[in-house]
Amino acid sequence: MPEDKKLRSAEWFGRKGKDGFIYRAWMKNQGIPEYEFKNKPIIGICNTWSELTPCNAHFRDLAESVKRGVLEAGGFPVEFPVMSLGETLMKPTAMLYRNLASMDVEESIRANPLDGVVLLCGCDKTTPSLVMGACSVDLPTIVVSGGPMLTGRHRGASIGTSDIWRYHDDIRSGKIMDEELLTIEAAMCRSLGHCAVMGTASSMACMVESLGLSLPGNAAIPAADSRRKVLAQLSGLRVVDMVREDMKLSDILKREAFENAIRVNSAIGGSTNFVIHLLAIAGRIGVPLKLLDFDPLAANVPLLANIQPAGKYFMEDMFYAGGLPVVLKALDSLLHRDAMTVNGKTIAENYEKAECYNDDVLATLDKPFNSVPGLAILSGNVCEAGAVIKPSAASAHLMVHTGKAVVFENIDDYKARIDSDELEVDETSVLVLKNVGPKGYPGMPEVGNMGIPKKLLDKGITDMVRISDGRMSGTGFGTVVLHASPEAAAGGNFSAIQTGDLVTLNVPNRSLTVNLTETELAERKRNLKPGEPVATRGYVKLYIEHVEQAHLGADMDFLRGGSGSKVSKDSH
Ligand code: FES
Ligand code: MG
Repeated sequence: MPEDKKLRSAEWFGRKGKDGFIYRAWMKNQGIPEYEFKNKPIIGICNTWSELTPCNAHFRDLAESVKRGVLEAGGFPVEFPVMSLGETLMKPTAMLYRNLASMDVEESIRANPLDGVVLLCGCDKTTPSLVMGACSVDLPTIVVSGGPMLTGRHRGASIGTSDIWRYHDDIRSGKIMDEELLTIEAAMCRSLGHCAVMGTASSMACMVESLGLSLPGNAAIPAADSRRKVLAQLSGLRVVDMVREDMKLSDILKREAFENAIRVNSAIGGSTNFVIHLLAIAGRIGVPLKLLDFDPLAANVPLLANIQPAGKYFMEDMFYAGGLPVVLKALDSLLHRDAMTVNGKTIAENYEKAECYNDDVLATLDKPFNSVPGLAILSGNVCEAGAVIKPSAASAHLMVHTGKAVVFENIDDYKARIDSDELEVDETSVLVLKNVGPKGYPGMPEVGNMGIPKKLLDKGITDMVRISDGRMSGTGFGTVVLHASPEAAAGGNFSAIQTGDLVTLNVPNRSLTVNLTETELAERKRNLKPGEPVATRGYVKLYIEHVEQAHLGADMDFLRGGSGSKVSKDSH
């Protein structure tokens, strides 16, 4: 900390007279001695602990480790709760509340006497919401992820969240009975932590590490491993120095960091949700990033992490194999080596000494597990502003495919008809699900990987082309086109597709088209009846009125950018 630079918290605790009295006095009721307020960096521990977010339920314990590090470095830790988004319990989808949680985080950080922040993130949306909110304030900030669960074990087999989609089909075809399901549930989620595969939570943990926002190794240490606590303590220790060095989020989050993160996400077979969250984060910190930028960056990056759903293993195996630094080192020639990270070293300095301990789990560029890219961005008259597919989790034989559309107008229509014997569908059909986008659902749920119609499942069909304006769980897989933008509810061409239209997916050409002319599409759109408003009050109304489309990150228009950390007025 430069001698002449005052701590931000001194604006509260260093004040004379009535204001300083009020700011200090009420903190003292917690038994805090006078010297804690004198020239000590105050570190906020932004905690998404909640028993309704099972993936983050161990965070009070983790916060204690962070505090030890902060105290050790001569800072003063203060833990505060923010809205926590549990992926599994929240209806209609945790994504509806990502932007709300980010507002909570932003305002909580700015309004309080904090000099630096530690973000405790775990379950899917808790990472982007916290990073987005923190970016709009831009204090020295470090991320500590909660870590993945231990690998599930059932009847001698390793299992994880991606198996849910397989079990779903097995339940529908009668292969699995209810009693067995209860045993599987317990076996799958047998420890603290977030989903144990490369779903969205793990992809987000890898994202923060490759952006340079966490200490090296953060992504893969299991929640139950004592080294997770060590990392938390070291992060607490480090953030105090970041305050002294005035190393802010904007010093780390440069365009190069974003490009590194995109390449890494492709190499790990990361979640498609990564695209939306990264776009939103870029929007907050002011780095220009477009959906189409992702494709050339991801295109020549093969799969280096053999982790489900794109591969075979689990996050625990990735940790034992050396963790994300091994992947970063393997990608060395493709990365911006000089990108700065929170520990004050460049990303290359951090991965230099990484060693791979299991090449069946983490590969090198010359011997990848799959040369198919982890992400492709599609354009065409089905999705004027783009759509997303994860080729590494899709079927090779469907990468170029034309089929007749079988259209479901919304999720209820889909649920009512998908298993009906009357549904006219075969394995060459293209399933189309509308009105599951940001505004349409609202909240853009993870329903894009629609189940295969029962009558095709019975024939042994396990994959077909599916297209929607919604998202897919990071644990999902299949030939699934997502985030079609603009969404049906925003009047995109997607709203005009009807059953029987011929839809062509051509991944090598990055195109998604329907055999309709612009005139035909315009004509059909003119005849569409607008849907009923789905919210008349409260946050959801605000959300629907202001949420941007998926290709822009689905943030709210008025939340783009930041307002910095200054607050000029006092409270009394
Ligand atoms: Fe929380 Fe999967 S449900 S990470
Ligand atoms: Mg998810």
